[in-house]
Amino acid sequence: MITGSGRGIGKHVAIACAKEGANVCITSRTIDELNDVKEEIEQLGNDARVLVHPADITKIDEVESMFKGFQEELGPLNAVVANAGWSRRSVTHEFSSETFASIMNVNVLGVFNTFKASYPCIKLDEKKNPARFIITGSAAYPTAMPKFAAYTASKYAVVGFMKALELEYRKDYITFNMILPTMVDTQLLRGKKAGDGQKPPTVMDPWDLNDYYVFLMTDWARKVSGYLLDISELEKLKQMVLEAPEDAQQDEEKMKDYLKEKDERFYKQLRKLRNLASFFLEKC
Ligand SMILES: NC(=O)c1ccc[n+]([C@@H]2O[C@H](COP(=O)([O-])OP(=O)(O)OC[C@H]3O[C@@H](n4cnc5c(N)ncnc54)[C@H](OP(=O)(O)O)[C@@H]3O)[C@@H](O)[C@H]2O)c1
Repeated sequence: MITGSGRGIGKHVAIACAKEGANVCITSRTIDELNDVKEEIEQLGNDARVLVHPADITKIDEVESMFKGFQEELGPLNAVVANAGWSRRSVTHEFSSETFASIMNVNVLGVFNTFKASYPCIKLDEKKNPARFIITGSAAYPTAMPKFAAYTASKYAVVGFMKALELEYRKDYITFNMILPTMVDTQLLRGKKAGDGQKPPTVMDPWDLNDYYVFLMTDWARKVSGYLLDISELEKLKQMVLEAPEDAQQDEEKMKDYLKEKDERFYKQLRKLRNLASFFLEKC
């Protein structure tokens, strides 16, 4: 189940999950965009089911009735991606209180609403295959962005929220992780220019993030929890793994040695995600 899946990052995560054979539930406020995503998934021609339910993530009643509907159709959910978000740029003293509150409502309250409403509808207590709760954060945590003070504050807030959830709901076998993208070619970053083929080279395409979301939902990541996936760092790891010598690609221990030798500081940071290297080799 992916929030904010009518366009941008969420849309591509939904398509990637469906390609893996998962049934997907998609939501945002714009029904036309959701129906387009549904059609795109149906055209894949596999058996993945797509359920659509428009809802405003800031309104708990709408979010609760959406999750109930999804659960009635599909049974308990395996994974929830709290991805919906928005932002506005302005010098902070000229920002309106309404816009500040609205950003906090979507980016923080929206994640709370997603968790609260999903909790009764997710698969609990499966030690071998824990439920996954994934949040789309931002590289604005920890690198604050001037003129994006409200957005930065909201992305700092969800990190604290996730860390608290991780401690509180371990007992239920739910993993909590966050993806921290940098710049991605979506409406949030580039407005109507998103997808025009003119993005600067430092800006990623939204589908470039799919591997990280899919990884977190696979068996490879069943023990990964409480982790903030810094996408620009992990892209370096992906490059290193895919360029590793043949013998390292075929032997986990040799891959470890190779990565350690290449960049020990970086390797240490990534130890918890060591399976990600194996995932890249199998998938990419
Ligand atoms: N693009 C980047 O450079 C970048 C970088 C770092 C992090 N992120 C994060 O990535 C996430 C996805 O953003 P994106 O870049 O893919 O932007 P996007 O293309 O604008 O997509 C945002 C999605 O969130 C939905 N949404 C917004 N407000 C909502 C509300 N009140 N209720 C329900 N759904 C709502 C939007 O649909 P409706 O408007 O139709 O409701 C849309 O489907 C966000 O959390 C964002 O902070 C993006």
